[in-house]
Amino acid sequence: MYESVLGFKKPILGLDIGYKTLKVMQLRGDGPGSSLLGVAEIQIPPRSLGKEGIKEKEAIAKAITNAMLSAKPHSITAKIVSSALPESLVFTKSVDLPTMTPQEINKNIPYQAGEFFPIPPSETYMDWQVVGELPGTNTTDVLVVAAPKIIIDSFAETIKMAGLELMSLETKPVADVRALISGSDRGPYLILDLGAKTSSLTCYDQGTVKLTSTISIGGDDLTNDFQPNLKNMVTEIIHFAKYYQNRIGQATIFHKIILAGGGANTNGLRKTLEDATRIKTEITWPIIKTKTYNPKYATVIGLAMKRI
Ligand SMILES: Nc1ncnc2c1ncn2[C@@H]1O[C@H](COP(=O)(O)OP(=O)(O)OP(=O)(O)O)[C@@H](O)[C@H]1O
Ligand SMILES: [Mg+2]
Repeated sequence: MYESVLGFKKPILGLDIGYKTLKVMQLRGDGPGSSLLGVAEIQIPPRSLGKEGIKEKEAIAKAITNAMLSAKPHSITAKIVSSALPESLVFTKSVDLPTMTPQEINKNIPYQAGEFFPIPPSETYMDWQVVGELPGTNTTDVLVVAAPKIIIDSFAETIKMAGLELMSLETKPVADVRALISGSDRGPYLILDLGAKTSSLTCYDQGTVKLTSTISIGGDDLTNDFQPNLKNMVTEIIHFAKYYQNRIGQATIFHKIILAGGGANTNGLRKTLEDATRIKTEITWPIIKTKTYNPKYATVIGLAMKRI
């Protein structure tokens, strides 16, 4: 229930449920000084996580327990879980509101949400964040996110079945950012997380996640047929960057594209993307202390780093 009692910090278990594997991680220590206590990746049935949430709850609960036991170099004992949803399962909408107080925004958002989300507000958990004031107007840009209750409840239930407790559920791009970008670094960067079948593209600017979208091309597609899939990916990246520039009315120059996800290991990807987009592209090392790093662990590192 409490992350800290009498100053004793309870250890956190990062849990990343992906397309065909799940990953668990526990760290020692806090923030950039932390280091790995244990990590494991284990196979799960493909598409275990969908629009209705986690399908085989019992099987996934067992997989989590097995992963914790088999983690290296040490097995994982943390009971408090920090996990994430793919951006594609979360509804986000940026709305322009006349400038008002947070209390007024709180009242206003659920009222309006019925119009711009495809499911009733009563079936979602909702949150919002002020992105910024639009220059020269009395208007505030507010990012509203809503996750279906059915999905969040299925996480909580599965995690409980494994004898654990869900403390935090965020989106995967937010976890990637925590793992890869230090708090004092304000960007602007693009983050491309290449999963098995899909990828997420995130705009990080002024120290926060500003925009995310999903691309229906993943590492498997690049492995099967590199050229055409990469070409489509580049088109989407350029379109996304332009959309962001238009939206905020400024020609933001992205300093780099940060690659994450297992698909970032694809041969020739980094250089080809860099040449095609003319944006410096790299797999950046996570901000925790580690001697080895595979970009497929970016999300779970960020989740394990989560503190309230
Ligand atoms: N060494 C490698 N070379 C090329 N591709 C690789 C390599 N290792 C992993 N991949 C690709 O990465 C994919 C898995 O990446 P990752 O573990 O990040 O996906 P995921 O997190 O399960 O997926 P998602 O985030 O979409 O749910 C594999 O399906 C494969 O396409
Ligand atoms: Mg992933």
